[in-house]
Amino acid sequence: MASEPVNVNEFQELARRALPKMYFDFYNGGAEDQHTLRENTEAFRRITFRPRVLVDVSRIDMSTTILGYPTSAPIMIAPTGMHKLAHPEGEVATARAAAACNTIMAMSFAADCTVEEVASSCNAIRFFQTYVCKRRDVTAVSVQRAERNGFKAIMLTVDTPRIGRREADIKNKSVTSLPILVKGVLTAEDAIKAMEVGVAGIVVSNHGARQLDYSPATITVLEEVVRAVGGKIPVLIDGGVRRGTDIFKALALGAQAVMIGRPVLYGLAAKGEYGVRRVIDMLKDELELTMALSGCPTVKDITRSHERSRQPEQ
Ligand code: FNR
Repeated sequence: MASEPVNVNEFQELARRALPKMYFDFYNGGAEDQHTLRENTEAFRRITFRPRVLVDVSRIDMSTTILGYPTSAPIMIAPTGMHKLAHPEGEVATARAAAACNTIMAMSFAADCTVEEVASSCNAIRFFQTYVCKRRDVTAVSVQRAERNGFKAIMLTVDTPRIGRREADIKNKSVTSLPILVKGVLTAEDAIKAMEVGVAGIVVSNHGARQLDYSPATITVLEEVVRAVGGKIPVLIDGGVRRGTDIFKALALGAQAVMIGRPVLYGLAAKGEYGVRRVIDMLKDELELTMALSGCPTVKDITRSHERSRQPEQ
């Protein structure tokens, strides 16, 4: 492999070499048979395009907004725990990369750095991810601390087994005035319930295939959720996004943006802040090329008609 990686897969290999096996396996692995882990990426590969060529694509604009916050491309950093396993600067390095790339970072409840450290390190737009903990005061304190430190939204992860899908709890989170995104929705039913309690956005996610094996690949259920939401609130997606073409596919199926989890960790492990920047920049370059070759000068131009109608199989 050339010393400068040219795609996410090459960063994955660099990370494999850079990290102790135990750390790499922790980042890289999925639940049980890892069926869903494989499917998260494979399902993207089954989708093909309907490119338009008779379009002026001399200028490509990838910029968009997420909950009203501007970002250079429809790419966000997903919340993942323990960035210091990858690099001594941990989440501070990740946040600086997010700022340099003009993208939004969701910081994990399980981060190694504090919200104060991350907030004071750079001016990246940050969301804070948390769970509905058994002890509500723990959730409340962490959310309020994030709010005090300038985090712009709360991302509530609802797919972890200990807490289950307790929609009523979401409604009772009057501990913050920040908008709340619910992360971990895979069905129309849950999307509707989340909307009923007034969330600001939904993240279609299976937790990077780390929780329930044989849950569906996220891209295969995106359209179901998007239909149920009916454009009322934004729908984001994560899981298996490794190429600019994957981002385009998710946007064509109605996502406002994608989040990336492991690719960021690979970049961080391989080359620290610079590595994270490279991963995001590579994905942006790939997306820009895909938009140009598909006849979509702006992200709003990316529609369902740019993909073939057959639903991806599972
Ligand atoms: C995660 N994920 C996660 N999600 C969350 O809500 N809170 C967390 O603390 C973590 N921690 C975490 C650690 C590691 C090592 C991984 C790989 C993932 C899930 C994460 O937010 C996201 O849903 C997936 O990582 C997206 O899939 P890809 O991009 O990794 O395929």
